[in-house]
Amino acid sequence: MSTPPARNSPIGGKYPGASSPKPSALNHQHHVDNPMPHVLGEGVNAQPLDIIGATATDKVVIVMVGLPATGKTHIANRIRRFLDFFHDIPCSIFNVGEYRRKLCGAQMPASFYDPSNVQAQAARSIACNAALDDLVTYMKVPGVRVGILDATNSTKERREHVRNTLRKANMGVKVMSIESICENAELLAENIRTVKLNTPDYKGTDPEEAVKDFNQRRENYKQSYEGLDDSDGAYVIIHDCKKFVIHSIRGYLPLKIVHFVMNLHTLPRYFYFTRHGQSEYNLLGKIGGDSGLSANGSEYAKRLALFAKDSICTDAAGQPRPSRLWTSTMNRTKDTAAWIEHPTIQATYEDGSKEKHDWIQMRPMARRNLDELYAGTCDGMTYKEIEEVFPEEFKARQEDKLAYRYPRGESYMDVILRLEPLAHEMERTREPILIIGHQGILRILYAYFMGMKRKEAPYVSIPLNHVLKLTPHAYGCHEDRVCLMTKSEMVWDGQDEPVTSMPMGGKGGERKGSDIAHNDPVMNAPSC
Ligand code: F6P
Repeated sequence: MSTPPARNSPIGGKYPGASSPKPSALNHQHHVDNPMPHVLGEGVNAQPLDIIGATATDKVVIVMVGLPATGKTHIANRIRRFLDFFHDIPCSIFNVGEYRRKLCGAQMPASFYDPSNVQAQAARSIACNAALDDLVTYMKVPGVRVGILDATNSTKERREHVRNTLRKANMGVKVMSIESICENAELLAENIRTVKLNTPDYKGTDPEEAVKDFNQRRENYKQSYEGLDDSDGAYVIIHDCKKFVIHSIRGYLPLKIVHFVMNLHTLPRYFYFTRHGQSEYNLLGKIGGDSGLSANGSEYAKRLALFAKDSICTDAAGQPRPSRLWTSTMNRTKDTAAWIEHPTIQATYEDGSKEKHDWIQMRPMARRNLDELYAGTCDGMTYKEIEEVFPEEFKARQEDKLAYRYPRGESYMDVILRLEPLAHEMERTREPILIIGHQGILRILYAYFMGMKRKEAPYVSIPLNHVLKLTPHAYGCHEDRVCLMTKSEMVWDGQDEPVTSMPMGGKGGERKGSDIAHNDPVMNAPSC
């Protein structure tokens, strides 16, 4: 077993003597003369400050621009998810295509998009205005910060109309446009095949016919297409996810959005999440700590190495594919990665150029922001001990697991904030990433990518001995779970904390928005 290194609390240093006997830090022993206390509104275990909310109050409307199948809806969805999950910024998308389908029916032929089709043009204008009206109503709601108009908005006239309508509504919103240009034929074909052909517009249509019709639709749009220029005000132009033109974007929130968008891509890719193998502390039911692996945990590490070699580092054609490995800085995750092989292979650069370079497969990268939620004064205790020694703390956590901050430790909200930069990196990365992490951390990343609400995140079941494979797509994320141990080999992970505050929801299945049920196996399933 390795010796646990000294570790500092992210919030104020490790309490001296965090192991038993337990400190009395929670019940103040001496009187403090503080007649004008600095009270945080939410109470003792206050949520961290809403960073973006605290630095800006902008209301922003994003106008998407681009030919069909250039990834606009994907970009809009990712922005909404990012702002909502990491910054609690209310954001809604107004997709003109949906209004058009309601107004005119789903399956309109390519000729409907011909700019010389006067009748169809009028119908498309009505659909756009209906979406715009709803966007204006939404932006007037107090507290609402971001609205996205998701449409081709492919002519100057249309964009001027949008800006004028917003100006007349006198809401003081900042308008920024995001144009997506996709000239990569391969990517375009992939977008059409995987996204467009699954929309109601082509339901039941022969795929070949559908592709033909869709390409004709794009040609019709091209006839009148006018890209963004400086007369459009603030904008970002994204060329094939690798070249960016930024004009006149000002303010914290708009720039935050630009930074996020610059990390996005629509190429197919995978994330693999696994917890470390069973740790010595898991075996004892202790939370936190920095112990090594149990014998079972070491066995899992060996199997994970085989899985990584065969299923992550090798593509469907049996060829090696460049892959990444991230762990936390804690012994149990690094030890779980210990058997993974690191051969050097030839790979092309991330920017899509064909130039080859050496790539070390699964080069270990230990990231501090992947370290487990720090339990502060309770680090190394069992849930039962916490309940006995700090009953009030135990109860407070039960009542609000998301916002509850361990004394001298962290809350899930704190962890969400420290994972924000990591999410940017995950969005950017093109190679498959294997993340060997911890329960609390993977719950947050899982909830973000699966479109769940923050308050549901602390209850997601991330059992030991499983690899969760997430495949992001334009409208959400597909999930597969692979168990690497047999039933009889399953081990306990110390998750015996009784849960009383599970959020309610609807159905399980492929997660889009929040639809989590009490009896959903993904939520709070027994760990093993
Ligand atoms: O028990 C394993 C563990 O990773 C602990 O180290 C950590 O405190 C806990 O899970 C997080 O889960 P929860 O938030 O449900 O206590």
